[in-house]
Amino acid sequence: MSVDGLQRPPAEVRFAGELAALRDGDTGDRPPGWALSLRAARTFILGDQKAGITRKFVGDPSLIDRALISLATSRGLMLVGEPGTAKSLLSELLAAAVSGDSTLTIQGGAATTEDQIKYGWNYALLVADGPSTRSLVPAPLLRGMAEGRVVRFEEITRCPLEVQDCLLSPLSDRVLAVPELAGTDTGGTDSMVFARDGFNVIATANTRDRGVNEMSAALKRRFNFETVFPIADFDTEVSLVAQEAGALLHRSGVTAEQRRDVLEVLVTTFRELRTGRTGKGDAMERMTAVMSTAEAVSVAHAVGLRGWFLRREPGTPADIVSCLAGTAAKDNPDDLAKLRRYLEQEAPRRAGEQWKALHAARHLLPG
Ligand SMILES: Nc1ncnc2c1ncn2[C@@H]1O[C@H](COP(=O)(O)OP(=O)(O)OP(=O)(O)O)[C@@H](O)[C@H]1O
Ligand SMILES: [Mg+2]
Repeated sequence: MSVDGLQRPPAEVRFAGELAALRDGDTGDRPPGWALSLRAARTFILGDQKAGITRKFVGDPSLIDRALISLATSRGLMLVGEPGTAKSLLSELLAAAVSGDSTLTIQGGAATTEDQIKYGWNYALLVADGPSTRSLVPAPLLRGMAEGRVVRFEEITRCPLEVQDCLLSPLSDRVLAVPELAGTDTGGTDSMVFARDGFNVIATANTRDRGVNEMSAALKRRFNFETVFPIADFDTEVSLVAQEAGALLHRSGVTAEQRRDVLEVLVTTFRELRTGRTGKGDAMERMTAVMSTAEAVSVAHAVGLRGWFLRREPGTPADIVSCLAGTAAKDNPDDLAKLRRYLEQEAPRRAGEQWKALHAARHLLPG
């Protein structure tokens, strides 16, 4: 795949070099159907400086171990957590490590249907030939089973419950029936698709959407649940935001490096409004909008773009204020008021010129 001009190639393309190096040096045992050993897959996700493998996910290493083990068993893996905690990123990295392919993805939503999950038909061929392997259009689940790959099911809880339940027999019996092909001239052998080694499902679910509680007990039993938490350590979060926003800015053609102290103000603001606690532990107002690390990265990117394309310099706290209203407060007037109080009352209590500049820029909030 040519990467030029792609906004975000899949992980196996972005990190093709790292995956090839890990494959070449991989001496560990591989679970059946896997592209890498468990140890190499873990290194791909958590990084290894000496081997030149970047850290892609920041978090508890034992979470990665449990997730990988889950994928080697006959249960699916369900990643649950707050929005923007890198559940989708983690599922992409896991699929790229285990199968070398993260693109067998189903995006769950209210309008998701079974044929987007299992298989559909090419209607022109269906009318001409009737049901046949030629007129069958495989969807990610059928392909993952037939090819022995990991299938990603994003935001599974946003799908109607009866649609979610079509995963039951693929996960428990490891078979997918295509009843339309039974009794056709292939003798019906294509009417049962048996899963090959390497097949499994990684689902993600957001705790702000309709919860996993509503999922059928039968389906829940077929998944191991893992919770992905927001990044606990402040310095780690600042470094991640610097690294991710730096990479995005580089792609946008910005050469000015962002200031660490400006990013610290940004990340502090996000953390405090997210948790409803100041760094010292005092209670304060919490925003209802999502103030995740993912949002912090996108605001840091926008701040850098403003600084560079408007003034050819790194972004400032005034740029943070300009970007916050649209990202953080969205259209919620209560959140906007909380943000305004934070800038008016909390910012001046902090030491440092960047906090002073943040306070001074409060009039940039709309309304
Ligand atoms: N622990 C983390 N490690 C690495 N990147 C992180 C982490 N937490 C947040 N991020 C950043 O956030 C982005 C991940 O967002 P992602 O879409 O994967 O989250 P999500 O949990 O799937 O959110 P949603 O529930 O809204 O779908 C990453 O691209 C990265 O920039
Ligand atoms: Mg997601």
